[in-house]
This record gives sequence, structure tokens and C-alpha cells, in this order.
Amino acid sequence: MAGFVEGKVVVVTGGGGGIGRAVALAAAAEGARVVVADIGVSMAGEDPTSEVAESVVKEIEQAGGDAIAVAEDVSQMAGGEHIVGAALERWGRIDGVVAVAGILRERMLFNMTEDEWDSVIATHLKGHFTVFRAAAAVMRKQEGGGALVGFASGAFAGSVAQANYSAAKGGVVSFVRSAAVGLHRYGITANAIAPVARTRMSANVPMELAEMGDPEDVAPMVLYLLSDQARHITGQLYTVVGSKIAVWNQPEEVRAVYAAGRWTPEEIAARLDATVGQERMGLIDRLEEYRQAATAGEKPNAST
Ligand SMILES: NC(=O)c1ccc[n+]([C@@H]2O[C@H](COP(=O)([O-])OP(=O)(O)OC[C@H]3O[C@@H](n4cnc5c(N)ncnc54)[C@H](O)[C@@H]3O)[C@@H](O)[C@H]2O)c1
Repeated sequence: MAGFVEGKVVVVTGGGGGIGRAVALAAAAEGARVVVADIGVSMAGEDPTSEVAESVVKEIEQAGGDAIAVAEDVSQMAGGEHIVGAALERWGRIDGVVAVAGILRERMLFNMTEDEWDSVIATHLKGHFTVFRAAAAVMRKQEGGGALVGFASGAFAGSVAQANYSAAKGGVVSFVRSAAVGLHRYGITANAIAPVARTRMSANVPMELAEMGDPEDVAPMVLYLLSDQARHITGQLYTVVGSKIAVWNQPEEVRAVYAAGRWTPEEIAARLDATVGQERMGLIDRLEEYRQAATAGEKPNAST
């Protein structure tokens, strides 16, 4: 029996560990030929080793699958080109890119260093651009187009001590939407997953996550988005955790108010609260609860 993504050539960045490894193993088990792209760094992005990517390739081969390891940095343009180039060199095409590689450097905004900001933005946001750009240039010319799958996070909606990570993930969401509209006419889809799964990264989050699952729970949705059966799905953000899949809304204006001519600050002060007002930010409402739990040395509960 043919696998769900039989014969497809798929790149998985961050494929050496955590969710990326589960995606790479599942894709290979369902018939894909897989590039496992990972530089094997610590959670903060340090001490690279090519061993993690190689060991996932070994696991795939032992199970009878077909895969190659590429230890290249997704935050570099040359890295993205080499990762996609490896797929082309070996199999002559590229059908899917799953951008899972990521690092975490948590710090309050007022203490965050330039390097903590730059490295997190580079790994997540530029790390999507480098591989999507290289792959899209090939996919647009090949029969069957292709599928791009990004990795965002619920933290894109705001995060207390992860301004760098949250901004990078918000960037990933907008980037995926732009890829979806820009590549639509070429038969290329672009979607993003906001996962929650037990990995070294989630173990470090300073809160109890109300919903939790395993990396293997996330992989099936990625396989679906890579498959021929999901060609009609693009520009979407899906939460995937345990047995739950949820779709996020598309950003849009919710209320408007008009002045007779140009607004003055005084007129805005007089009318804004009673007209468009604000949209409730749930995270702000929970800050005091988080503060008290942190003071008591506990991990507060968060919904994502
Ligand atoms: N685990 C969760 O609950 C959770 C929640 C929200 C979002 N995410 C996102 O899901 C993705 C996977 O997370 P995870 O928990 O599996 O993390 P992880 O730390 O277990 O794995 C990340 C992998 O990316 C690799 N990597 C890091 N920088 C790289 C680079 N520059 N080039 C190539 N490879 C690199 C690492 O070596 C590692 O193998 C990340 O983008 C993360 O932000 C995870």
C-alpha cells in the first residue's frame, strides 16, 4: 500500500530533534524521501553537532526509509540554498518544506541583549525565509507545485519574557500568509502550525501548559498539509496539541469610527473608549495570577 506522502521529496529543518524529528520519521514512514536538516545546537542555539541529523537519518534507514542529513544553518542564505540543493541533487525535485528549526533565549525586554534578539529572529524568521525562498524558486517551475509548512507558536499573540521569540513567530505567521498569496498562482501552498508538545523547549517554558501532547501528535497534521489531499488549504494557522486541531482566525478590523474630518487628539480622547474601544488582551488579564504564582515558586497555568 502506498504511503500518505509516497515519493514526495520533503525537507524538514530542525529534523534532528523534538517535533522536527517526529515529522521527519513520520514523513519517511509514509513514503517521503526526507532531507533532515539540523545543526544539532543546544536550546539557546549553541554547540553545533552534525550527529543529531545523522542519527535521525539512521533511524529512518533502519526502518527501510530514504533520507539524507544536512548540517546547515537555516539562518544563513547559503544554508537554505544548500539544504534545498541537497534534495535537488539527490532526488531532482522538492515537494515540501517543513520549517521546524528553532531556539529560545528568554529574557525580560529591558534586559534582552542585541544578540538574544538577533539570533532568535534570525533562526525562526529568516530561517523560514532562507528555505522557503530557495524551495519556492524550484517549486514554481515544477509540475505539482509544492507545500510550505511553517512553525509558529501561540506565543505570537504575546509573551511576557519572550519578546524576541513572540515577534519572530508573529513574523512567521505574516510571512506564511504572504507566501500563500504570493505563490498561489504557482500551485504552492503555505500554512503554519502552532504546536504544543513535550520537548526540551516546552520543558523550559515557565508555566504549566493546560494542553500538552507529544511531538508524534503534531506530525500527522504536517503530513496532511504536505499531501495531495490538502492542495486547497493555504494561508492558515493551525494549533496542534495532543488530540486537538484548531484553526486561527484571519486578522481583520473589527470596528471602525469616523470623524467629520481629520481627527484631533482631543476628539479621539473624547470618543475612542465609547466607540471602537480596545480588544481584550487575555494575557494582560492573567499577569497578576502569573506574578503571584512565580513569587510562590510555582509554574502558573497558561492556555497555550
Ligand atoms: N515544543 C513546543 O511545545 C512548542 C510550542 C510552540 C512552538 N514550538 C515551535 O516548534 C518548533 C520545534 O520546537 P521543539 O520543541 O521541537 O524544539 P527543539 O529544541 O526540541 O528542536 C529544535 C531543533 O532545531 C534545531 N536548530 C536550531 N537552530 C537551528 C539552525 N539555525 N539551523 C538548523 N537547525 C537548527 C536544533 O538543533 C533542534 O534539533 C520550534 O520552531 C518551536 O519554536 C514548539
